[in-house]
Amino acid sequence: MFYEVRAFLSIEAHRSKTVLLGLMLLALAVGLFELAAVLLIIPTLAVIVDPASLARLPLPAIWDVAAGWSWRRTLVVLVTLLLLTYAAKAALQVYYYRAQTELVAAWQRDLAVRLMRLYLQAPYTFHLRRNSAEIIRNMTTPVQVFYGEFLNALFSLAADAAAALALIAVLLAVAPGPALAAGTLMITIYVIQHRIFHRIHVRLGEKILQLQEQNQRELQHGLGALKELRVGRKAGFFLDRYARLQGRIRDNIFSYEFSRRLPPLFGDVTIVLCMTVAILVLVWLAPEPAQVVASLGLLAAAAFRLSPLANRIIGAFGTIHRTGPSLKLLADELRQLEALPQPRDQQSPTPVRRDIALSDVAYVYPGREQPSLRGIDLTIARGEVVGIIGPSGAGKTTLVDILLGLLVPSQGAVLVDGDPLRGFVHAGYVPQDVFVLDDTVRRNIAFGVADSEIEAGRMQEAIRMACLDRVVNELPEGLNTRLGERGRALSGGQKQRIGIARALYEKPELLVMDEATSAMDARIEEEITDAIADLRGHVTTIVIAHRLSTIRNCDLIVMLERGRISDQGRFDELLQRNEEFKALVRIATLGKSDRLPEAITN
Ligand SMILES: Nc1ncnc2c1ncn2[C@@H]1O[C@H](COP(=O)(O)OP(=O)(O)OP(=O)(O)O)[C@@H](O)[C@H]1O
Ligand SMILES: [Mg+2]
Repeated sequence: MFYEVRAFLSIEAHRSKTVLLGLMLLALAVGLFELAAVLLIIPTLAVIVDPASLARLPLPAIWDVAAGWSWRRTLVVLVTLLLLTYAAKAALQVYYYRAQTELVAAWQRDLAVRLMRLYLQAPYTFHLRRNSAEIIRNMTTPVQVFYGEFLNALFSLAADAAAALALIAVLLAVAPGPALAAGTLMITIYVIQHRIFHRIHVRLGEKILQLQEQNQRELQHGLGALKELRVGRKAGFFLDRYARLQGRIRDNIFSYEFSRRLPPLFGDVTIVLCMTVAILVLVWLAPEPAQVVASLGLLAAAAFRLSPLANRIIGAFGTIHRTGPSLKLLADELRQLEALPQPRDQQSPTPVRRDIALSDVAYVYPGREQPSLRGIDLTIARGEVVGIIGPSGAGKTTLVDILLGLLVPSQGAVLVDGDPLRGFVHAGYVPQDVFVLDDTVRRNIAFGVADSEIEAGRMQEAIRMACLDRVVNELPEGLNTRLGERGRALSGGQKQRIGIARALYEKPELLVMDEATSAMDARIEEEITDAIADLRGHVTTIVIAHRLSTIRNCDLIVMLERGRISDQGRFDELLQRNEEFKALVRIATLGKSDRLPEAITN
């Protein structure tokens, strides 16, 4: 319990605790009304049994006015008071529940937004190490389900515990002997049941988290590779695994539900047992029957009120223990995320005036021993078009990720006009695999721009340069056609063109294209290459390509090999001096023949 509350307080450490305190006070007030209502039962019963007995009760002085009242009148006043107290308690309770539910929903929303912000701001390397199934799981089960459950349980525990304590205090005052006997018994039973259920609940909570993540991952695997799964006839394999996982989830749900229902049953039996003991003690201690009637009535009333309270309190304890592992996970995750370095985009970037340089850059991926890049020295002048080539796995994507500031070099630095990189004002990035939103073409191109701010002219220009006009014209609803999940309605090359149009819509000062035309036919690739070449002088462009035709007209070609720059220069310079490059050109133009065509040697 303390462990869970500590985790909760660490999650909400930034908040002022005034609201919490207010709610706790409100809970206390509900408890006090509960107390008043039960207290009123004593004189009411006394009056019903023996009107004269009222005089013998230790009542506050205000009851002196009732001394002259008739029996009937006293009873009517008492019953009315009782009703009013209950009504006031109920009204207060409604208000309390309202405030509580509102607060829980708001805090849950705040936590979801806070986590999402932290995930979005976290350095790119954080996400390289994380599985998206884990992040989606964190945002769903712990935040959307368990956080609310925990908060509700905590608040209802506060209100119910206040009421129960008040009732117990009355019992102790009115009938100390029976109350003590029953109380001792009750505490013993509760401690035993707590011992039994606590560990079960915590274990179940941990298990749920783990199963939810697996479930998320199985779903992503099964549905993500649908084509390969069909063609390879592997549906059975995935289905079996899914069925096994669902079997474990079913076992977990069963234990969860069953263990949730047991403790309240315990509660009922315990209350009945304790009250029996209390009555026995009371009767045993009493000199004559008439004297015990009021106390007996009080005991019965208290038992009647305590029973549901005890059930709810036990239920709340169970919930708090079950949600404990989730709370701990959230607290740890927040601590970890908040300790990460500040995102670059909170620093204001400056435009590139002269050049972008990589100075003695090396990069080792987390968890790897070998560097993926080392000793990289490269200067790219503003407005230049630079081509990067090299075999698969040479480090081309890593190089541009460093240049864009997505990865922070393990050694060396990225300098813009001689100063450390602070991000680019407008950078367009076409990654190797473009992520197409399940949304309209328009919103896919104007990515992250509000509808009202989309500029039609700019959109047309981006579409023209990315050779998308024909594609868009042929779509049933033009720019308003939805592209389906991951761009299902598009071909591979069309998806890449959406990526290019998206980067160009930004009117970037730096444009990076990582194999951005690899899935296109030669003619369209050439058209796009020409369109990009028109940007020379205004837009610094970096093109990673396997096809040499794409980089033929670059101002600078960088050859990467196993994480190092093996050579750099213009196309014709490299062709003159670099055997490797010559071989590449030969393969590209003629297949395996050794003779270079006239067109290239000239
Ligand atoms: N997230 C990662 N974690 C660990 N190692 C990585 C990661 N990404 C890439 N690498 C490794 O870094 C090296 C360079 O990868 P990179 O993606 O930069 O190659 P590339 O030149 O872009 O290849 P390709 O032409 O196939 O896209 C590879 O050996 C790869 O295994
Ligand atoms: Mg790559």
